[in-house]
Amino acid sequence: MDWFIREENFNKDNIELNGSRYLIGNGYMGYRGTLEEFGAQQLVALNLAGLFDQNGQLWRESVNAPNPFYTVTYIDNKELNPLISDVVAHEQTLYIDKGIHTRRTQFKVDNTVITVEAERFVSMKRENLAVLKYSVSADKNTEIKVKTLVDSNVWNINGDHFAVEESKSENGINIMSLRTLEKGIPMRVYEYIQSGENDNTVTLKPDETFTIIKVCGIYWGEEIESSYESFKNVCSKEYEELKAEHIGVWQGIWENSDVVIEGDKEAQKAMRYSIYHLSSIVPRNTDKSGIPARGLSGQVYKGASFWDTEMFMLPFFSFTDPSLAKNLVNYRLNTIDGAKRKAKEFGHKGAFYAWESQETGDDVCTLFNITDVFTNRPMRTHFKDKQIHVTADVVYGLWEYCTVSGDYSVLACGGLDMIYQCLLFFYSYSCYKPMENRYEINDVVGPDEYHERVNNNPYTNKMAAYTAEVFAKALEYVKENNKDIYEKFIDKNDISWVQDFLEKIYIPEPDERGIIEQFDGYFRLEDVSLEELKERIIIPNEYLGGTNGLATTTRILKQADVVMLLNVFRAHYDSEIKRINWEYYEPYTEHGSSLSACAYAIVAAEIGKLEWAYEYFMKTATVDLTGKTKQYLGSLYIGGTHPAANGGSWNTAVFGFGGVSYTEDTIDISPRIPKHWKSLEFKLLWKGVRISVRATQNNVEVSCDGNSDNINITVNKEKFTA
Ligand code: IFM
Repeated sequence: MDWFIREENFNKDNIELNGSRYLIGNGYMGYRGTLEEFGAQQLVALNLAGLFDQNGQLWRESVNAPNPFYTVTYIDNKELNPLISDVVAHEQTLYIDKGIHTRRTQFKVDNTVITVEAERFVSMKRENLAVLKYSVSADKNTEIKVKTLVDSNVWNINGDHFAVEESKSENGINIMSLRTLEKGIPMRVYEYIQSGENDNTVTLKPDETFTIIKVCGIYWGEEIESSYESFKNVCSKEYEELKAEHIGVWQGIWENSDVVIEGDKEAQKAMRYSIYHLSSIVPRNTDKSGIPARGLSGQVYKGASFWDTEMFMLPFFSFTDPSLAKNLVNYRLNTIDGAKRKAKEFGHKGAFYAWESQETGDDVCTLFNITDVFTNRPMRTHFKDKQIHVTADVVYGLWEYCTVSGDYSVLACGGLDMIYQCLLFFYSYSCYKPMENRYEINDVVGPDEYHERVNNNPYTNKMAAYTAEVFAKALEYVKENNKDIYEKFIDKNDISWVQDFLEKIYIPEPDERGIIEQFDGYFRLEDVSLEELKERIIIPNEYLGGTNGLATTTRILKQADVVMLLNVFRAHYDSEIKRINWEYYEPYTEHGSSLSACAYAIVAAEIGKLEWAYEYFMKTATVDLTGKTKQYLGSLYIGGTHPAANGGSWNTAVFGFGGVSYTEDTIDISPRIPKHWKSLEFKLLWKGVRISVRATQNNVEVSCDGNSDNINITVNKEKFTA
């Protein structure tokens, strides 16, 4: 298979989409797939992970740093830029095996053809480094001017986020010092041009190429202090050396995480492209930042982390590189104070995790975050205060990490307390109905965001019950393994109510038809098809949820909700219940969120609907290749990459087609691959043992690297011994 994606013509209508499609990233920064001569207008962005800023009253969002790669060629003082110049040929390529972006554009000026070639990467080895090699050649003797600089005029959605304090040069290194506006956090961008200058005037002969190599360093916060020395030590390293070490890290990533699909090139490419994105955006060396819902492709959704991380992306990291999963789990532990503040703000106890979480864990989700397209007025939504399942999703992520990695140490380092605080939140949010002798959870928003303030959403209730179960297990674990911590915990916290809550939490069961009602009263809503509902839309991009949206009075749902429940609790519901609910809800589901398709894909695979599973898998896995997702919610721009869907692709390949399921002590592998696939291969790290799986239509081969004596593996439910 080709390990690259390529566009062979320049199309200005693709600039925005290609910015996301051709993104390069290393977890510290993401650089959009734009051309070197582009600026803020073309949505160029070097988006930083974990650095946020608020401009006045505008939405607080992640910071886009100055653009280190800005480089332009001029002929006769005229800029070469496909937006204004005559383009003879153009090619833009992203090598997903190496995390390298290239472009080659041939411009024609009078009778001269000038070729601009550029290759760039953000180093996986040294996360602060961004490296560019930029070359120009011409087919006739030509005088060219090549100008390169660090462009501080950047794309922002909600106002500017830094002020440049100083620009100077020291020992050939250009240094731009900046400060964010809200908190005054220092940033620094270094530029060292190894070959060439900032301004170059060159007369090219036909067989000559003029090349600039520049190495840039981006630092912020405490790193600033030692940044000059650290940048100075690497900036003059050979380009090829920096490139080789960067590629070396990518090779290691693929070694552990590749999923190989034989017999379907399109699926293979989409699968690898999804893994590429996940690997490009995960924080590698810090547990102070999460993964934003749009990755590092810009400021959409404020650069904040949602439940997307735990429920869609974390499995990939837990099973392929648990150290990265641990960073993500610790990020939630580190931000628990924000969750406690949120619980208090809304009159609850414990910890209520942010719907949109930045560096402190305080919720940056706004109460009016969609503009009504009819009135142009802000519309109240309840994502922030009612989409409480996020709190249980965070617990789910933590427990999944412990189960898969076998590393329970996080429990003694704040994990147990966090689980308890989350459970306390659910207990305080729920209401005990004495007549029914049960705890209900009312006035919530489930994963389907089109129906707000509903009662007894099975996904939410089941996740709350799950939180209680996890708490009981975590407490037991700490009691056994960390006596001191257990005793301190018991002294400090009242747990007398936990058992009662666990026993009496109401989880809506399937009705006589086998259907689980998405919330109390859902079946009484108007039964309308998606097509009919769409005919009622008056203005494109009109939001179907909120208070009065078109879907709110109907059964149409935005994204998998009951099917998400069946996906998460796959061992709890039998195949028949899964089939009945999948078939019932599928026609009503709009898949208006990119998170939806993978749940449908996984459950479809489980119930033997392999063609549907494949269709939904491809929808998930190609989302950032095709760009076929909603770009607007009302008038809110929501474009960018879709890491939850990228995670969903991996989940579908492994849990859906690979048939992987697990309990705390056993992992089962029962593959069922699409009919036209020759084979599916993947590796899983289960409690420290690397398991390799190769499934064909009739066979499954499993092998283990390392000692598998202490782990239980079953294949097609039969005990496996290495
Ligand atoms: O978390 C999701 C939500 O489920 C649907 N809207 C977009 C959010 C961020 O991806």
